[in-house]
Amino acid sequence: AWLIRARVLSFDADPGDGDTPREGSIVYHQDGALWWADGRIQGVSDYHALAPQLPADISVIDQRDKLVMPGFIDSHVHYVQLDIMASYGRQLLDWLNDYTFPEECRFAQRAHADNMADAFLKELMRVGTTTAQVFCSSHPNSVDAFFSAAQRRGLCMLAGKVLMDRHAPEALTDKTLGGIRDTERLISDWHGTDRLGYSVTPRFAPTSTRAQLDAAGGLLRNDESLWLQTHLSENLGELDWVAELFPESRDYLEVYEQSGLVGPRSTFAHGIHLDNGMRKRLAERSANIAFCPSSNLFLGSGLFDRHAAHESGLNLTLASDIGAGTDLSGLATLKAGYQVGQLLGQPLTAWAGFHALTRGNAVSLSLDDRIGRFAPGMDADFVVIDLSASPLMARRMARCESLAEELFTLMMLGDDRAIFETWAGGRLQHRRQN
Ligand code: GUN
Ligand code: FE
Repeated sequence: AWLIRARVLSFDADPGDGDTPREGSIVYHQDGALWWADGRIQGVSDYHALAPQLPADISVIDQRDKLVMPGFIDSHVHYVQLDIMASYGRQLLDWLNDYTFPEECRFAQRAHADNMADAFLKELMRVGTTTAQVFCSSHPNSVDAFFSAAQRRGLCMLAGKVLMDRHAPEALTDKTLGGIRDTERLISDWHGTDRLGYSVTPRFAPTSTRAQLDAAGGLLRNDESLWLQTHLSENLGELDWVAELFPESRDYLEVYEQSGLVGPRSTFAHGIHLDNGMRKRLAERSANIAFCPSSNLFLGSGLFDRHAAHESGLNLTLASDIGAGTDLSGLATLKAGYQVGQLLGQPLTAWAGFHALTRGNAVSLSLDDRIGRFAPGMDADFVVIDLSASPLMARRMARCESLAEELFTLMMLGDDRAIFETWAGGRLQHRRQN
């Protein structure tokens, strides 16, 4: 068994959008202890309350100056796009054709997929993200590569093969039902294996025929434990194209509704250009919208209205959306989220931000029985944060008068240097060099 002595923070419930967190939503120990064995958390408490009854065989790690939080969760990211981050000058549809599709063609090679899966997971560990919901490419190989790499590390990951049967290069295009049969094979090989789960992954409405979307919906009907991930209402050109391709649907969301793709385990990335009617329909089915602020800024897609989403009762998650996103780090995602909020007069509090990154994303993704907070029996996934990781951060932190202020400073000034260690499944996955 292992124990870490540090400042320990996690969320039991949504702290709300106010400057002070809702009563009972946060659990914080200034001189705290988190202990675990066999990959599971055994307890969290004040260090001194625990010290007298420590088992003799426990290894104590003293990191009293550090802050421990549950591992960060990224609800929407494309591992196959790591190498096209920072591709200049396009908005969504041109960006897909000019940069993204050619890059995804490279994943036909299993060796390339293995290398990229490994590089991606290393980067995730470096930024403290222990769970992600991941788009692979159209190649079943790319999913085998990703899940194998995640399994070797003992990580909790959701992923799926992109389904596309039109409007993409030949080399990435499924036969309508061939893509579904590949998906069935991947589900039977990986879904529920160790800490892995399968997310059915139609890329977005324009690249699937109605027949393929319907068949994807059929998979979800057959097995309610599957997840679904796709894109929705990101870009105005995309909206016009969807209206043209699906004249039978009254709006973009209805395309997905008609194929049975909207449910509590569904994540729709972006959802920028929605009206209140669509927001309500998503909320009624407990579906999730992934807010991808750095991506929305990078592609010039628009400013996501978080308050309108909240008012409609929509479940929100937070995501990097690499390769359109400009940073894999959850801290950078929070910073971009704050900046977008400021432009709309709705600044994101540090409480809401760190809740979203941990417990909030876990709840929305229906993973809260395993990850996202510290309680006995939960998986031992956590990040050890150095609040004085750079000279500038140390200076600013010295001026902070509350935990709220420290957390806000972390989300604005923090980067990968602030991630001192990342642990997942009770194993050390990353330690900062230097
Ligand atoms: N819409 C369809 N595919 C994609 C993608 O790969 N990235 C983003 N940001 N939006 C998409
Ligand atoms: Fe995306």
